[in-house]
Amino acid sequence: MRTDRTFTMLKPDSVEKGYIGAILEKINAAGFKIVAMKLTQMTRRDAMKFYEVHKERPFYGELVEYMTRGPIVAAILEKENAVADFRTLIGATNPAEAAEGTIRKLYATSIGENAIHGSDSDVNAAIEGAFHFAGRELF
Ligand code: RTP
Ligand code: MG
Repeated sequence: MRTDRTFTMLKPDSVEKGYIGAILEKINAAGFKIVAMKLTQMTRRDAMKFYEVHKERPFYGELVEYMTRGPIVAAILEKENAVADFRTLIGATNPAEAAEGTIRKLYATSIGENAIHGSDSDVNAAIEGAFHFAGRELF
């Protein structure tokens, strides 16, 4: 299992607010190389599958609505220790608890609308990357 890749989505709120450029700048400045990227929109079925681990949680319906309401930027990023370093860069799930300078501190609105996704393990990074990208879309 490789440890130098993670998967991210700039969520619909980030795209709506025009934060794509600013967030990509932070990702670039933190030393991540973009190996795959696209603007895309998840269907209901996609979002339900992607966040299946949360299907029993009270916020699942809201989460699916949010993640499907507009386009996202999906990307695969490469860097040594990618998963953990990217989670540090994006900050806590709840922006009120996120460290200063993190992407969620700067650009998220609330725990529900929190600007960006980052994979939580190497296994999930591989699964999520393959969910969104064909092999020929990786560079
Ligand atoms: P993500 O998977 O999107 O990177 O976020 P995460 O690991 O930091 O948080 P996770 O627990 O996996 O939750 C997934 C997403 O569900 C929404 N959420 N809403 N209203 C709520 O209490 C609540 N809790 C979580 C957020 O969009 C969160 O990122
Ligand atoms: Mg998560």
